[in-house]
Amino acid sequence: MERVQRVAVLTSGGDAPGMNAAIRAVVRKGIACGLDMFGVEHGFLGLIKQEVKRMHLGSVADIIHRGGTILKTARCNDMFTPEGVARAAQTLKEISIHALVVIGGDGSYRGSQALHEHGIHVVGVPATIDNDIVGTDRTIGFDTAVNTAVGAISKIRDTASSHERAFLIEVMGRNCGDIALRAGLAIGAESLLIPEVEYDLEDVADKMLRGFKRGKNHSIIIVSEGAGDIWQIADTLRGLTGFDSRVTILGHIQRGGAPSAEDAVLAAAMGSKAVDAVTNNSREQETAISLMVAQDCNDIVLRPLADAFVGERGFDRGLYDLAGDLAI
Ligand code: F6P
Repeated sequence: MERVQRVAVLTSGGDAPGMNAAIRAVVRKGIACGLDMFGVEHGFLGLIKQEVKRMHLGSVADIIHRGGTILKTARCNDMFTPEGVARAAQTLKEISIHALVVIGGDGSYRGSQALHEHGIHVVGVPATIDNDIVGTDRTIGFDTAVNTAVGAISKIRDTASSHERAFLIEVMGRNCGDIALRAGLAIGAESLLIPEVEYDLEDVADKMLRGFKRGKNHSIIIVSEGAGDIWQIADTLRGLTGFDSRVTILGHIQRGGAPSAEDAVLAAAMGSKAVDAVTNNSREQETAISLMVAQDCNDIVLRPLADAFVGERGFDRGLYDLAGDLAI
């Protein structure tokens, strides 16, 4: 049996702090296992355009602490077409890459699954600030994004308090409220508006009014980007309370910066596990592997990649209720 020997890694979709630490782990573990390692630039787009280069130990030196991704990334619509997938698979076959490690979010997993159907071994490593991948408790980049949001909101809180204002702060997360939930609980926000829970702006306004009546001099409301139009929400609350309310959209600041220690450690463990998944497979085996690395409580495990497309991510209702209970 001819074993998998040539393995490529790419980053895809929105970047996330810790992607570099994950690339480093994949490349270094791969080399330690005697594999020939390659990097694909610009995600799946680079695969279609054949932007593939050899990776050595030195290629990943001094990147563990850096935000962004040295391999660059892209959102690639071509990977949602059969022609695009066929071209990407063709590149891998032409340059004899036997397995591909994809570091990214669930859109990237869909591209990987499509490549698997062309007989390529694929392993997904979950990296997105949104923490929205089904099948894993955590994604690389989430903890850093929460910490970035907490740092920024603390600063806004200072000015909110000086001016006795209400602030509505939008955080990222697409359709997942986890960044809002964790950052909001950590900062003691008055209200959290997240896509997973229906909200009533009259209740939010009542809470603001009650708070000001008992001497609070500012109000912080965290709005997850998937929970509605923050400008409209602000208008409605202004109308209901009469408060001077300001809007801040934190935006892409949440995607940058050095990974937190938690994310760097997660990236090391997950990157290394991805290499475990591809070694000891044959190049020609009847069914190529299609796996994802996942955190299951305190364990780093391998699951079928297809698990990421089934059902919904669990939402921590207990934590949401706790945030509400404490922000009375
Ligand atoms: O998936 C990560 C994320 O930052 C989401 O939170 C956000 O909705 C989206 O990407 C923004 O995408 P882009 O950088 O393409 O504008």
